Amino acid sequence: MTGLSLALANLKPGTGKTTSAVWLAHVFAQAGNSVLLVDADPSGSALEWSDLAAMDPHLAAPEAAFPFRIVALPSRELHRRVPEIAQADDVVIIDAPQLEDHAGIARSALRYADEILIPCAPSPIEINRTTPVRDEIAEITSVREQPARSAVLLNRCIARAHSTVDAREALQDLGYDVLDTRRQPGIVKGGFAKLRQLSATYNVPQSMLASRQLSRASVTVAVQNLFTLWVAQRSDFGVKLTDPEIRNSAGSGADPGGLLGYNQEGWPQLRRLLVSMRVTP
Ligand SMILES: Nc1ncnc2c1ncn2[C@@H]1O[C@H](COP(=O)(O)OP(=O)(O)OP(=O)(O)O)[C@@H](O)[C@H]1O
Ligand SMILES: [Mg+2]
Repeated sequence: MTGLSLALANLKPGTGKTTSAVWLAHVFAQAGNSVLLVDADPSGSALEWSDLAAMDPHLAAPEAAFPFRIVALPSRELHRRVPEIAQADDVVIIDAPQLEDHAGIARSALRYADEILIPCAPSPIEINRTTPVRDEIAEITSVREQPARSAVLLNRCIARAHSTVDAREALQDLGYDVLDTRRQPGIVKGGFAKLRQLSATYNVPQSMLASRQLSRASVTVAVQNLFTLWVAQRSDFGVKLTDPEIRNSAGSGADPGGLLGYNQEGWPQLRRLLVSMRVTP
């Protein structure tokens, strides 16, 4: 049964609805939930993102691109149809279209979702434009069983900048709940185990040394950096990490995972074969 239904909504286009919807869907999926992302925008940008992601040549299989289901449903009947489609999903995220152009669909999304997020940049113009969304949410409450919870998601902002602090205050003065903008420290699991070195030493027998006037002699053969046995974190949003000791700087375009050499910082450890000989007269 769906435990969480969340819609990203706003009056205007370009406020970050699709970006936030897709990221949230990833976060919930990575936390182990079964997620359904509903692309309710007739422009279909969330669906387009998933198609583009599936074309990534580095993916093992196209279905590995987005780790959740995504359906296009730009319908005024969304609130009736989604419960049936999402029966087995824990979380439903709706990328709603802008209210000003697709009011019927956006209202239907507001009617269905229990949580409504309004993505908003910390600018006076965007803040003022959130008011009609709030009015819509209030109006729709009469046809809902329970009122939805709503909050503003400050987007495209620098967490501690003055503009963000001012925007938060202005939004709170307007009566909004505003989500926290603390930057997550981005914890990466760094553990790994590598087979660094295997070596064998042969000590030449004394019987062979006496005639050569040597007291000791040995030959050592060593192989270094044989295998990575285990890494705590294998992938970053489905993109395989090359080596736990290499930092992939953010790749882009054709190389989103930064897997190509020129997007990597640091060299992989070289596999080396060492042969050494010790002789003591
Ligand atoms: N947090 C962010 N940081 C940087 N850029 C962002 C962020 N969120 C969104 N953007 C950028 O802002 C632009 C608009 O974002 P997005 O497409 O998500 O908005 P939208 O509200 O879904 O627009 P539309 O109504 O046209 O579908 C995109 O170019 C996106 O990459
Ligand atoms: Mg969009």
